[in-house]
Amino acid sequence: MAILHVKTREGDVSSIEARSGRSVMELIRDSGQDELLAVCGGCCSCATCHVYVEPEFEAKLPPMNDDEHDLLDSSDHRTEFSRLACQLAFTEDLDGLTVTIAPAD
Ligand code: FES
Repeated sequence: MAILHVKTREGDVSSIEARSGRSVMELIRDSGQDELLAVCGGCCSCATCHVYVEPEFEAKLPPMNDDEHDLLDSSDHRTEFSRLACQLAFTEDLDGLTVTIAPAD
């Protein structure tokens, strides 16, 4: 079992036991964390699952597609570390990843 760390907007960090095959958004949502709204349920159409990822994990993450790129462009808080958590399939390779929930738009 791998571990996913989630940092809230207030800086609180919680750790989730994470299984491969779920998205980072699903793992966060199912842990009871309510700061990540994920309004569209993972259809890549809302951008309310915006998180920041650690640069050292970037190479292990799936590449960003055009839809994710366009949605993130609608955020005032996009950075080079921005991703949509629903587009990040969790794998054992991501053990120890910390994602920070981005400010709400
Ligand atoms: S949950 Fe809507 S874009 Fe990720």
